Amino acid sequence: MSDNKKNDDLDYETTGHSWDGIQEYNKPLPKWWLYTFYACIVWGIGYSIAYPAWPGIKAATPGLLGFSTRGQVAEEIAAAEAKNAPINAKLASVELTEIAGDPELNGYAQNAGSAVFKTWCAQCHGSGAAGAKGYPNLLDDDWLWGGSIEEIHTTITHGIRNETDPDARFSQMPAFGRDELLTKEEISQVVNYVMTMSGGEPQDAAAAEAGAVVFADNCAACHAEDGTGDRFQGAPNLTDAIWLYGGDYNTLMETVTNARYGVMPNWNERLSEAEIRAVATYVHGLGGGEASE
Ligand code: HEC
Ligand code: HEC
Repeated sequence: MSDNKKNDDLDYETTGHSWDGIQEYNKPLPKWWLYTFYACIVWGIGYSIAYPAWPGIKAATPGLLGFSTRGQVAEEIAAAEAKNAPINAKLASVELTEIAGDPELNGYAQNAGSAVFKTWCAQCHGSGAAGAKGYPNLLDDDWLWGGSIEEIHTTITHGIRNETDPDARFSQMPAFGRDELLTKEEISQVVNYVMTMSGGEPQDAAAAEAGAVVFADNCAACHAEDGTGDRFQGAPNLTDAIWLYGGDYNTLMETVTNARYGVMPNWNERLSEAEIRAVATYVHGLGGGEASE
């Protein structure tokens, strides 16, 4: 049998093929299925010409439409930036002290500032801004360099003791031991005295008494006679029991012997003015922010 014919016994059309009596039904794919299948092939060829598709050694074929997911992200970012451009421009130009009083601007600055903080500041100051040894806590009202919005803005813009911005805040405590400005005994005395300044117990009361004189002669110029510090020089308040490096005997000996040199980068090269103002607003709003003078 070679031609299509109806099987007389069964009610099916067969292809006419028969092997050992086994016949092949003639059941072509439904037309709708077949044409959909062809359409898919055509669409697939068209797609792989229009869009990036075939992997190459360095990159996939680019596609005639020039589409890329990277480009799409860039477009979305540009669109978001364009949308925020007016408020960023406003943030960058108003008086610093006006930001907090403008609910819309303040809300935007707080959100944007929180994002900037998590990206650029958290690795040193902690994600919650509570700081760590050598990295000040930004949640409290104890400020090395000042807690008004203007002071915070200046600190962030120019940084501290860095070598990249000539306007960085700068001061340097002498290394009293390493540079042999004081003897080890004098250092021990003044350290004992410093321990009493914040209401603590000295290791040696007699030494602490002698230390008061050493302090007046060597330390008061920066830390003030009463030890409350000097923000102009970023010299910490030694009477508040809040320590940047530590208030125990050994840590204090280390601080006074070798001094510290805390460095913070300047952000004016990496962040826009609007971003700096946003993060300054955020830090100022964390709890320790002070009113402007
Ligand atoms: C590489 C570490 C590092 C990074 C990153 C960093 N800081 Fe600092 N920051 C410091 C150090 C260290 C000090 C203290 C310097 C000193 O001893 O005077 C400081 C001090 C400050 C102060 C002054 C605090 C005071 O008591 O006066 C502010 C405000 C501040 N940082 C904000 C920021 C913000 C906002 C960012 C992110 C844009 C940031 N910092 C990123 C290390 C860092
Ligand atoms: C030229 C100014 C200057 C003089 C003089 C000076 N200091 Fe300091 N002192 C500083 C500065 C600035 C810092 C902060 C350093 C830093 O953060 O890197 C500091 C930090 C300290 C700290 C660390 C406080 C903390 O919170 O951990 C102690 C303690 C201290 N000084 C004690 C002394 C004693 C004691 C003397 C005198 C023997 C002295 N200083 C003299 C400027 C000075």
